[in-house]
Amino acid sequence: MKPFRVGMVGLGLVSEAHAKGYETHPLAQIVAVCDLDEKRAEAFAVRHDVPRVYGSFDAMLADPALNAVDIATPTHLHVPMTLAAARVGRHVHCEKPFCRSVGEGLLACQAARQRGVILAVGESYVFLSSHMQARELMDAGEIGRPMQIRQRHGAWLERQIAAIHTGPTNRSWRIHPEQSGGGEYPWIFDHAVHFFSAAEYLLQDEPIAEVYAVTSQDHGGPKRQGAAHDPYTAPGVDIPIITWKYRDRARQGVWARAERLNGKYDYRRGFGTIISGETGMIEVLGEGGANLDWQGREVHLILFREGKEPVTWRFDEGGDDVWDSEISYYSRAHITQIHHFVDSALTGRDPRYKGEDGVHAVQCTLAAILSAQQGRPVRVEEVPEDFTAYGPRRPAS
Ligand SMILES: NC(=O)c1ccc[n+]([C@@H]2O[C@H](COP(=O)([O-])OP(=O)(O)OC[C@H]3O[C@@H](n4cnc5c(N)ncnc54)[C@H](O)[C@@H]3O)[C@@H](O)[C@H]2O)c1
Repeated sequence: MKPFRVGMVGLGLVSEAHAKGYETHPLAQIVAVCDLDEKRAEAFAVRHDVPRVYGSFDAMLADPALNAVDIATPTHLHVPMTLAAARVGRHVHCEKPFCRSVGEGLLACQAARQRGVILAVGESYVFLSSHMQARELMDAGEIGRPMQIRQRHGAWLERQIAAIHTGPTNRSWRIHPEQSGGGEYPWIFDHAVHFFSAAEYLLQDEPIAEVYAVTSQDHGGPKRQGAAHDPYTAPGVDIPIITWKYRDRARQGVWARAERLNGKYDYRRGFGTIISGETGMIEVLGEGGANLDWQGREVHLILFREGKEPVTWRFDEGGDDVWDSEISYYSRAHITQIHHFVDSALTGRDPRYKGEDGVHAVQCTLAAILSAQQGRPVRVEEVPEDFTAYGPRRPAS
């Protein structure tokens, strides 16, 4: 038997990418899977040659062969499942957004530390090859001190053959105020953790200190449909732009989204980032990214430096399993992330993206939602531990 034996719970959209990670790690093995939908679980087990199938998480946790669990269930189940697993001494890899309030997230981190298990949060934006290359260039001083980040969000377009990854037919948790954790802003809550994590990672881990959300009223209609992330049809409000200041007040960032789900068009697809340093600039594609051209050729990263010729990179890693994009997000990024989790658990070292990092990203996201509700900039540390996006609104201050 291999030394790292994992049980996977939640076998929807993202689970296939996780399975690829365990299957390609020489010391890991998926020994059990669990889903409320037993047919789905059976089919997954056959596809991935997994010996045991459970219909309940508690039953799977009692399986003595397991030393780790992989949690890819809807967001409201992340903390309860992490707590249960940590308390019985299982290492945990849990999908983002890790928690729905800062308080519940910290509780889960504490349980993991007390039991001495590794808790990794699935923040794939810091495991993308293109982002890691950008970070390496920055760490090598190629653009001088990084000062400003601009994240551009165009449409994620789904590949025709991505059906296996689109998950179960009932994905209503994604727009449920409590189950998604996002209240009126389920899309933002589900995704902004990625944007904030990338914004810190790509500015050499400088922490975000203050957030301001620009809101927009949605006038309804079919423009909110048409991508793999349907059903995002419910809310009548949107946050198309977020700005932030870092702890170092000389540095700042902005995220802006224009795509058909919010009624706008952007030629450049998916997620892309520009990092401006004192002496240079990097432009890099991320999840679902496409159409970054240089001299007639699609590239994935461009390094511009004062007085030097630009240098370009491509990352030919087989493309994406879900998006129509050459950037391998639902494959290479998740595989790298899962391998890192397995190695962290086997060596007992904190992972690059741990529970506390997942909580911090949620706190930044809640600051954005609080900012949208109150129409003012919100300091990240002022978000109360018990604040949720779906609870009663805080009075305007
Ligand atoms: N890091 C990423 O790139 C990424 C991508 C997609 C999703 N996610 C995150 O992963 C999580 C899952 O998202 P998804 O899109 O795969 O969801 P999904 O709806 O496709 O799948 C969820 C699965 O969980 C199962 N489930 C629900 N309750 C359960 C329970 N109590 N016990 C066992 N199984 C249960 C459902 O039957 C379903 O099969 C979310 O938190 C989401 O934000 C992350």
